[in-house]
Amino acid sequence: MNSIAIYPGSFDPPTNGHLDLILRSNQLFKKVVVAVLRNTSKKCLLSVDERYNLLKECTKNFPNVEVDAFEGLLVDYARVREAKHIIRGIRALTDFEYEFQIALLNKRLAPDIETIFLMPKEEYVYLSSKLVKEVALLGGSFDDLVPKPVANFLKEKIKNNLRFSDLEG
Ligand code: PNS
Repeated sequence: MNSIAIYPGSFDPPTNGHLDLILRSNQLFKKVVVAVLRNTSKKCLLSVDERYNLLKECTKNFPNVEVDAFEGLLVDYARVREAKHIIRGIRALTDFEYEFQIALLNKRLAPDIETIFLMPKEEYVYLSSKLVKEVALLGGSFDDLVPKPVANFLKEKIKNNLRFSDLEG
């Protein structure tokens, strides 16, 4: 498709599932803007700058992928970026209700912007940022769940006394 797509999310942290979706969207669109949400009510483990930098590092070999951060309404941001498509991953039925709500609300706010759902590769169906954080903070191995720069970053963070309570909120 000869247009721009926004791939929005919290990316706390970026996982192999996110990267898979970025790479596959990159083959469908002229440009993919990976957009980290700034004003989330979720308590995040990584700062926006940390997530932005990790996504930049993980996508540095893809010239048609741009990383950015946004605040406010997603559809307003999409308009500013002249994007006609929003990419979201849908892993299982559990994602469906939430995604359905967001997509329908966005459609109401901006009928000219289409949400495109991509299914993850089978091997990433179970993968979520939340579970990666849990495994990492409880001392499990997460090397094959996240891109290498993210794994290294998380290990460093854990070494520097990151505690499980940092996740609660
Ligand atoms: O990775 P996430 O946390 O599931 O991503 C959620 C995201 C960023 C897509 C959603 O929270 C969002 O678009 N927020 C921006 C505010 C907005 O536009 N809200 C109305 C539609 S939900």
